[in-house]
Amino acid sequence: MPVVPVHHALGQYDVCVEPGILLSLPELLSGPLGKRKLVLITDDVVGRYYDEWTRATAEARALGARSSDAGIRLRCEARLTFPAGEASKSRETWLRLTDEMLSQGLDRHAAVVALGGGVVGDLAGFVAATYLRGVPYAQVPTTLLAMLDASVGGKVGVDTPLGKNLVGAFHPPAIVVADPLTLLSLPDRVYRSGLAEAVKHGLIADASYFGWIEANARKLLARELDTLTHLIHRSVEIKAAVVSQDEREGGIRATLNAGHTIAHGLEQESRYRLPHGEAVGLGLIAECRIAERMGLATAGLAERVLGVVRALGLPVRTGGSVQVARVLEAMLHDKKNREGQVRLALPIALGAMHEGEGEGEWTVPVTHEMLASAVVGLA
Ligand SMILES: NC(=O)c1ccc[n+]([C@@H]2O[C@H](COP(=O)([O-])OP(=O)(O)OC[C@H]3O[C@@H](n4cnc5c(N)ncnc54)[C@H](O)[C@@H]3O)[C@@H](O)[C@H]2O)c1
Ligand SMILES: [Zn+2]
Repeated sequence: MPVVPVHHALGQYDVCVEPGILLSLPELLSGPLGKRKLVLITDDVVGRYYDEWTRATAEARALGARSSDAGIRLRCEARLTFPAGEASKSRETWLRLTDEMLSQGLDRHAAVVALGGGVVGDLAGFVAATYLRGVPYAQVPTTLLAMLDASVGGKVGVDTPLGKNLVGAFHPPAIVVADPLTLLSLPDRVYRSGLAEAVKHGLIADASYFGWIEANARKLLARELDTLTHLIHRSVEIKAAVVSQDEREGGIRATLNAGHTIAHGLEQESRYRLPHGEAVGLGLIAECRIAERMGLATAGLAERVLGVVRALGLPVRTGGSVQVARVLEAMLHDKKNREGQVRLALPIALGAMHEGEGEGEWTVPVTHEMLASAVVGLA
């Protein structure tokens, strides 16, 4: 079973990736979580799939499947659900889930199991981070984005009306269990959205991985299981290496924001109708163009990124309906800005990022003109 260890200040956790691994969920969780009382938190869509997955396992067992196939049904003290979607990643849902756990008398020996996409992971992780000053939790990601990005790194939190992820914590999970088989039921657009983060991982850290994604775009779109498993594994390795070096985002972790400053501007301008991964694909293209114009990146890098984004079925143009001033406005309010200046982590070549002036500095200031022309260039 491919396992990627992720190191953090207080220890380490494993990210386990394998098709069918959900069958071993109870045993896998019993390692890091011992005999803790489990609280399963999921959204209503994933909850229905979970019931199907567990029913299928139960039927297989009734038909005499091997006894090692213990079945994925967890012995849970409580199962809490909320409506699927980003709108639920709020302080209101955090409050309701926390109160439900309190009213059920769950003590410090509880542990949370976050089953679902990035919304469940961030929200349930934040519930775990704050419940009785923190209980452990497991991430069981079921979207591609959550498997290769959101479930790794320990960032948890909720949105507020003033912006995304404005309230949160660093709370590393006790274990991450990713079963690529669960991705087969994802809607196409949600699935493809996750692929943009893998392109980002190749761009920032590994040219040969980037080439592998280019060469395997067709298999990835077909959700070929071996290809998908390798993708998740390699992306998690890259993210794990970065967050292990810089858990609290003081330096190199900024490289994981490649493409994201412009992506956030586009998302906000679209009032979040543009899916995150589609925005990231566009943001990567635009930020590579900026890197080329600033003379940092080798010529042709942006075209290469555009080629793979397109091959993965993600948009490479905004279609011109974007109000550039509003994208800029959103970028100027990004919480990662310093002294009102937008700073970007920019690539110099495939697999290599530009190192700024100071020690551990991975971002450079970018002028408003440069940002505006990159956004206009996406039309
Ligand atoms: N913490 C981090 O480091 C980090 C990193 C990146 C993104 N995020 C966060 O992740 C969130 C986005 O995550 P997401 O894209 O996974 O969205 P999501 O959690 O909303 O999932 C997308 C949709 O897919 C459904 N779904 C999930 N698994 C499914 C399955 N196996 N089959 C069928 N449907 C399924 C969900 O119910 C939902 O409707 C954002 O809130 C973002 O801020 C966090
Ligand atoms: Zn992202």
